[in-house]
Amino acid sequence: MRLSSPSEYKVTMTEQCQQEYSKKKKEPFLIVQQSSGLSGQVSLAGAKNAVLVSLASLLLAEGISVLHNVPASQDVHTMLALLKHLGVQTHFDEVAKIVTVDTRGINRVDVCPDLVKQMRASVLVMGPLLARFGAADVAVPGGCSIGSRPIEYHLSLFAQMGVKIMHENEWVCARVSSVTGLQARRLVLEYPSVGATENILMAATVTPGITTIVNAALEPEVLDLVALLKKMGAHIAVVAPAMLVITGIAALHPVEHTVIVDRLEAGTLLCAVAATGGHLVLPDARAYDLDIFLEKLRAMGHSVTVGTDGVGVELIATANPRAVSFKTGPYPGFPTDLQAPFMVLQAVATGKSLIEETVFENRLMHVPALCAMGAAIVCERSDRARVTGGARLQGAAVAATDIRASAALVIAGLIANGETMISEVHHWLRGYDGLQKKLNQLGAHVQLIGQEYK
Ligand code: EPZ
Repeated sequence: MRLSSPSEYKVTMTEQCQQEYSKKKKEPFLIVQQSSGLSGQVSLAGAKNAVLVSLASLLLAEGISVLHNVPASQDVHTMLALLKHLGVQTHFDEVAKIVTVDTRGINRVDVCPDLVKQMRASVLVMGPLLARFGAADVAVPGGCSIGSRPIEYHLSLFAQMGVKIMHENEWVCARVSSVTGLQARRLVLEYPSVGATENILMAATVTPGITTIVNAALEPEVLDLVALLKKMGAHIAVVAPAMLVITGIAALHPVEHTVIVDRLEAGTLLCAVAATGGHLVLPDARAYDLDIFLEKLRAMGHSVTVGTDGVGVELIATANPRAVSFKTGPYPGFPTDLQAPFMVLQAVATGKSLIEETVFENRLMHVPALCAMGAAIVCERSDRARVTGGARLQGAAVAATDIRASAALVIAGLIANGETMISEVHHWLRGYDGLQKKLNQLGAHVQLIGQEYK
């Protein structure tokens, strides 16, 4: 494969990426009416944060692979656009939720800057490209609303595996030494970064020798990737306290895999029903992926029961919720991706609470919008908020600032008097597959207005 240089990319890729995004339609928005007592039963979509890395991992095997339970969210379409850009044949049956990819035609290793800006998870193709082709060129993901989100953990561990990292403007060009190839190492993460764990893990599966990742992220989505890679032939062990030990093999083979259900969609639905005083049954929810979150719902006074073997969750909301404090953290801590939705519950419950966001440096951007709706929240720092409960929320025109903030604003709209208009709803479309339809099935009044992204 001929490797271009980044200067060449600027011309071809920008045009190519422009085609991808010229299809962008008028910005959609959501209208949310006050809705009380959401009740019923819904099934969960596949997990966005498992399927994105799973799609990237299919690059490791030459041939045709199939993923089931793939949500038709914008991020999935963006990842499929990236795979296509690399030369992969893809097909997505959005009704059956099945993606088929054929990786025999990969003909480039560069990741278009527009795609990386659109979705940070694009950097997850680095590990597979380095493993299979010895090269990857990625435009470093710009900071986004929840923080700078650099990728130095990824790059420093790749460098320890013998990868030469060069910076050219916003480009990171990575090359595996043709002399040594990728080298198995004991690699220590200073922070259990999900993406860095996943990127290194994928590269290590075909690196000769034993690679150990110390202080690895062990989120359910990471463990689903481990399961997928093992089906592709990889030798991976999860070792206490938090290590992944990978014995490299020559090559992985194509796979058929079903993605785990989305614990974050589950948590969002549970917050919506708890906030509106209803009753929800999630038959396929994996309660053991949400232990601390479910405990916090119980501490608020909500009744939460779990099915046999930890599969299935039923919530009956209390009419007098008590506010609780919480702190986000790496798994099994309280999920950072449920911090914003859960904050809404504290705003209207009885009592004061302290919310600490320890994963991202700037993930309280939804607070101004919630305050505009009448919530009493003070940000003491960019990562700590004090909430005074008992607010009576009023509908307002607000803007979403990230995927999970959009969910928080929808939940706030469900309990606010009157009507709430939410703009910047591309965040909502990025992270969820028609979640507004599931909420409406439960009795909500949420309308998506304007063209949906494709
Ligand atoms: C994954 O992001 C998820 N995204 C995020 O979900 C999730 O919030 C996050 O993990 C934490 O659980 C996907 O899986 C696609 P990290 P990731 O590397 O891998 C810093 C959502 O809404 N960091 O664990 O990017 C980083 O800035 C999204 O679904 C570095 O400083 O998360 C952050 O503060 C949002 N340098 C912290 O570590 C690095 O090299 C955790 O990041 C890498 C990360």
